[in-house]
Amino acid sequence: MKITIEKAAPSELKAKPDENNLGFGKYFTDHMLQMDYVDGAWQNGEIKKYGPFSMDPAAMALHYGQTIFEGMKAYRGKDNKIYLFRPKENLARFNRSARRMCMAEVDIDLVYEGIRKLLEVDQEWVPSAQGATLYIRPTMIATEAALGVRPSKRYIFFTIMCPVGAYYPEGFNPVKIFVTDKYVRAVRGGVGEAKTGGNYAASIMAAIEAQKQGFTQVLWLDACDRQTIEEVGTMNIFFVIGDELITPPLLGSILPGITRDSVITLTRDWGFKVVERPITIDEVFAANAKGQLKEVFGTGTAAIISPVGSLHFKGQECLINNGKTGELSQRLFDDLQAIQYGYKEDPYGWVETI
Ligand code: COI
Repeated sequence: MKITIEKAAPSELKAKPDENNLGFGKYFTDHMLQMDYVDGAWQNGEIKKYGPFSMDPAAMALHYGQTIFEGMKAYRGKDNKIYLFRPKENLARFNRSARRMCMAEVDIDLVYEGIRKLLEVDQEWVPSAQGATLYIRPTMIATEAALGVRPSKRYIFFTIMCPVGAYYPEGFNPVKIFVTDKYVRAVRGGVGEAKTGGNYAASIMAAIEAQKQGFTQVLWLDACDRQTIEEVGTMNIFFVIGDELITPPLLGSILPGITRDSVITLTRDWGFKVVERPITIDEVFAANAKGQLKEVFGTGTAAIISPVGSLHFKGQECLINNGKTGELSQRLFDDLQAIQYGYKEDPYGWVETI
């Protein structure tokens, strides 16, 4: 299949938002990529003007939640070139999510080519302001009109893009996190490791309760023991305890983050002892009481590296590094961003140029 391009007329192009005040996910570019899965094959690949599509009210995504998505970013370097960070990893994860949700897989090379072309068409939307990027959202939804609970035979794949600033209002400043043992996000054997809409819907009630109490995000615990740490709403989590960097292992209920993987690679190369192992919230509080907990930070495409200033669990506060950004969080933020924006040589082959 060849992806066709039909550009919006110059009079239809939108005014660009203020790059220094973007927030997250509020503005969308002029074009989108779309293709349809019908009769067992992807077809009608096109780049066209951004806009709504119509769907049958019986479309299966609306009833049984067969939806998946990805999040990746395009960065504008000082050389004015546009860079992508590990884009094929995102697309490989997209297909893993598709398999888990019994949805059609995509041809990674074709979609990658489509996203590159979309970026070329909307290249002026990649911001230059410090800390601003173009967030890319590949998505797939089930569109067959049928109410039996089974895999849809039809899908729409689309990619939309939006210029974004920091995900959290705090920016790179440490966030306050509420640890919940009341709600759970996912359970082993469920769909926690798939990037499917329902996982995010499941997280909203706890997030609202946490925000009402002044917290930025929720830290999830294992659904059965309500002790073992899983992940934060939109990020994986890391703890520096003594001389070890510890992060929960990928056992099926958390998202296999690409930033998580990049952090593990970078810190191992810097000589850190990185351990992927189960860690409980009690262990974290005990390490803090003994003065061994040095840093906590989250990782994610949207959140990048997000230092955690405090964790709150059962009425107790665990204040981390006096609520300040730790040395490793800062180094990771600087280094990762330098690679992503093409400021620094990328020895890992992670960065692609448009
Ligand atoms: C990302 O980091 O790309 C995510 O998917 C988080 C998102 C739900 C805002």
